[in-house]
Amino acid sequence: MFKGIYFKLVATYLSLFIVIVLLISFFISSIFYKEFTNQVEEDLLNAGIKTNALMERYYNNDITKEELTAWINAMAYISNLKIYILNPDSSVLHQAEQSEAMSIDTQLRQDILKVMEGETVKRTTSFSLDENRLVYVGIPLTYHDQISGAIMAFSPITEIQELTSALIKVIVVILILVILIGTIAILRVSVKISEPISEISDYAKRIGKGENVPDVEFESKDEIGMLAKSFNEMKRELAVSEQMRRDIVANVSHELRTPLTSIIGFIKGILDGVIPVEDHEKYLSIAYDEANRLKELTKDIVDVAKIESGSVALNKENINLNELTREVYTEMEELVKEKNLDFIFEELSKNIEINADKSRIRQVLINIINNSMKFTEKGFIKITLDKIENKASIVVEDSGVGIKEDKIAYLFNKFYTANNYGDATMGAGLGLNIVKNLIDLHGGEIKIESQVNKGTTVKILL
Ligand SMILES: Nc1ncnc2c1ncn2[C@@H]1O[C@H](COP(=O)(O)OP(=O)(O)O)[C@@H](O)[C@H]1O
Ligand SMILES: [Mg+2]
Repeated sequence: MFKGIYFKLVATYLSLFIVIVLLISFFISSIFYKEFTNQVEEDLLNAGIKTNALMERYYNNDITKEELTAWINAMAYISNLKIYILNPDSSVLHQAEQSEAMSIDTQLRQDILKVMEGETVKRTTSFSLDENRLVYVGIPLTYHDQISGAIMAFSPITEIQELTSALIKVIVVILILVILIGTIAILRVSVKISEPISEISDYAKRIGKGENVPDVEFESKDEIGMLAKSFNEMKRELAVSEQMRRDIVANVSHELRTPLTSIIGFIKGILDGVIPVEDHEKYLSIAYDEANRLKELTKDIVDVAKIESGSVALNKENINLNELTREVYTEMEELVKEKNLDFIFEELSKNIEINADKSRIRQVLINIINNSMKFTEKGFIKITLDKIENKASIVVEDSGVGIKEDKIAYLFNKFYTANNYGDATMGAGLGLNIVKNLIDLHGGEIKIESQVNKGTTVKILL
């Protein structure tokens, strides 16, 4: 891990750096070189022209041979040049004192011929290992507009070679320094990067094995700090959902075992003859109710599981909320009236259209009205439909026992029950959790208001 990031960073940094340095030094030295060579050519040309002028004065007998030689020698000496004056047959007519015999290769021979024909030639010899590079300029030797030979002036360019090699040395030193500093800097950065990452990866492995691990300690505002923070959050959420899973398993088995135990007990009592014949019907009817409750409970548990796994797909269609509520109202009317409660259905708006899953909305309504029925002994249950700002509003109000204020916040939790059931069939506390999830799935809102001994109001916006 550490090696991986470190070497990638170093490799990227170094290759980038080396390429840039090489490019820059290539450009600098070639510009430098060009400038320098131009300058040398210029000097050589001037020397050639001056030599020609001296030759003219010599031919005109203005200066003596000794004077001519002295002048040319001085010029060659001061400018570190080699000057040769050639006859038309290329034999040397005159050469400056310091100039050794001219070594003539093919290129130079051709250039001399060109000069003899009147051309001015400027050339920089190409690089070779055994010889110094030279710049030379040739101009025709003219007298009275007649070409009478050639003047060739040479200058070695050792100077520029020395400069270039000095430049290369400096660049190499800088390169080594930068590589050293850069490598150390990258080492520090990559240790900073890779340490928390390897820690996180190590922790993730241990969490996978079910171990408890401490938080990743890494405070930083960069992506890695964010990763560490998200990792710690994920770890906490995992722990919470693991705890939830354990609670649910414990709750579910408890909820299932209670009715089953009583059903088994009653049947055994009847079979063993412990329950007298005249009581059979009573106990069988209790067992029947319990079995029904079990059936409802299993349905709820399956619903909760489905919702939590995200596998509930809504079958949405345009439905008339008034019609649907009336159907539910009619279905439940008898049961409510059996309890001597007023059952009121008020439609403040007619024909409220909503796009929703009909059977799920029906399930919500039944659940809520059932709760009101369970927890209301006298008074009324009232359903009100209305349209509020383009939304359908369903309000179910009852005059029941109400819910303590500090418990209201937990009503939507799974397996949460807030009241004694009294005569009502016990519930597992799943109903409102399912209701809340279904409303959420529809993108709606649900709110519960309640006052102890006054009643409860459930408000839904869809
Ligand atoms: N209309 C109501 N009046 C009083 N208490 C209510 C009402 N509706 C819900 N509750 C309280 O909320 C708890 C949770 O409701 P719910 O999730 O439907 O579970 P269950 O009906 O199985 O008890 C109930 O146990 C009850 O204490
Ligand atoms: Mg309920």
